[in-house]
Amino acid sequence: MESLDNLLTKAAERLKKAKRVVVLTGAGVSAESGIPTFRDAQVGLWEKYDPAELASPEGFQANPKLVWGWYEYRREIVRNNIPNPAHYALVELEKKLPHTVIVTQNVDEYHRIAGNQNILELHGRIMENRCFKEGRLLKDNELNHSSIPPRCTCGAYVRPGVVWFGESLPSNTLSQAFNEARSCDVCLVVGTAGVVQPAASIPYYAEQAKAFLIEINNLPSALTSIMQVFLQGKAGEVLPKLVSLI
Ligand code: APR
Repeated sequence: MESLDNLLTKAAERLKKAKRVVVLTGAGVSAESGIPTFRDAQVGLWEKYDPAELASPEGFQANPKLVWGWYEYRREIVRNNIPNPAHYALVELEKKLPHTVIVTQNVDEYHRIAGNQNILELHGRIMENRCFKEGRLLKDNELNHSSIPPRCTCGAYVRPGVVWFGESLPSNTLSQAFNEARSCDVCLVVGTAGVVQPAASIPYYAEQAKAFLIEINNLPSALTSIMQVFLQGKAGEVLPKLVSLI
């Protein structure tokens, strides 16, 4: 088996030559910030609930107060933590290789907070509020807090601005992400299990475009078998090393 150092050098050489880079990120990138994955957050009070009960339009309709409470709990964790060295390494990567696009499944906005410019957020943003009926994004002063969840000016409940199970991803963002994957020459996949569609298709589009595929994950994922280089380890440790070699 090749050493991590050799694999890092190999990956860095391909990145140095790359004209277009797509970085697909998942919950593993925020793990070292203390943001639990969706399932890992289902502890204590939340243990007894199914993901569909907490993160679907039907679940919200059935028990809006419960779902709102779950998102308040997760928002608090996001508010109380900060980006980690994995996020900052991706900011450096974008400075070194200007045509870098971060395609993320994370809803914490830590890529933006860390300083990346070119970000496509596939699953929305946990801090945003939307009207459950109209779907539109709401400003803080449009929320009526006399109930839980708060209500929109139209009277409907407010929901978090994330994509729930059974919902479509924002179509423009998704088509931009697919286009980037179809035209990149390196695709770097970091901290995702690679099982949730359509995000998990992105490395396959890159593969079809004959891009060089690199993965960083502390464990093999559903995508590892198509990778040219698999860098096993924590994103907050491996990514800074990789970017320092470019
Ligand atoms: N460094 C690198 N990888 C890590 C680390 C770390 N410190 N910690 C965990 N991982 C890896 C795990 O091995 C796993 O492969 O991150 C991955 C996290 O997988 P998931 O929790 O399934 O997260 P993700 O792939 O981002 O999920 C996609 O599913 O829950 C829904 O909508 C939600 O956006 C989310 C989507």
